[in-house]
Amino acid sequence: MLPATGLLCTHPDRAEHAHALAQRFALPLLDQRPPAGYWLELDDTRLSLLNPDKHGPVYAEFVEGAAAHRRQFGGGRGQPVAKAIGMKGQEARDVVDATAGLGRDAFVLASLGCRVRMVERSPVAAALLADALARASADADTADIAARMTVVHADASPWLASLNDAERPQVVFVDPMFPDTGNKAAAKKEMQAFQQVIGDDEDSDRLLMAALCCARERVVVKRPRLGVDLAGPMPSSRQIGKSTRFDVYSVKALAAVIAAARGS
Ligand SMILES: C[S@@+](CC[C@H](N)C(=O)[O-])C[C@H]1O[C@@H](n2cnc3c(N)ncnc32)[C@H](O)[C@@H]1O
Repeated sequence: MLPATGLLCTHPDRAEHAHALAQRFALPLLDQRPPAGYWLELDDTRLSLLNPDKHGPVYAEFVEGAAAHRRQFGGGRGQPVAKAIGMKGQEARDVVDATAGLGRDAFVLASLGCRVRMVERSPVAAALLADALARASADADTADIAARMTVVHADASPWLASLNDAERPQVVFVDPMFPDTGNKAAAKKEMQAFQQVIGDDEDSDRLLMAALCCARERVVVKRPRLGVDLAGPMPSSRQIGKSTRFDVYSVKALAAVIAAARGS
């Protein structure tokens, strides 16, 4: 069991936001920086995950930096992820991102016009997402995109199973953390932090079946370009990018597998 990560507020004007985040995500509030390890810190700008011995601040960001660049110059509807979720013409999709993480994929999908419910079970990642979404909602350049995004703090497998017919999404997007996700030395600081704080996702095969039983049209699994498939049925098709692959599981093509899983 990983230790609970605490939240420290360093700016008096932000105390209310800190309390709301701590309450919503059951994070212990700190009154000083811990001597070592990870903690969340809310300053006048944003919420960040810190561990100065290991790397700089890690945070979710929808307004500035890579998100802004991708918003302005990203590949639009021709990019592999857009094709993988089945975007055609102007029709936007209703997507559940079942492994939201820092919300980068969710933001790309919402920028393309999709409604995205971001499901995240780690309280740390969910708090970082909620803080980034609040900032994006308050910025004129991103408010319309943020309005299509919501944060759900839950384990996606039971949450997907709990949806009624009207709530079921067209697409479930899955990007689990794998022990084999590429070269450890080159792993990004966010990934190092996440693996320390959150651990590997050891139950992604269960999540794939829960996603298949819930999605109305398809499940899309993001993998490293040369990574192994998730255990379970074979993907129906694949969209291959430079370093990433999107495995597409069609609900129609896998109807027999899904019926068997629902019956078991
Ligand atoms: C590799 S990261 C996802 C990165 C994300 N696609 C992005 O763009 O930032 C995987 C995340 O999925 C979350 N996760 C894994 N299994 C989950 C589940 N069953 N329910 C909810 N969240 C899950 C982990 O806590 C982790 O934050």
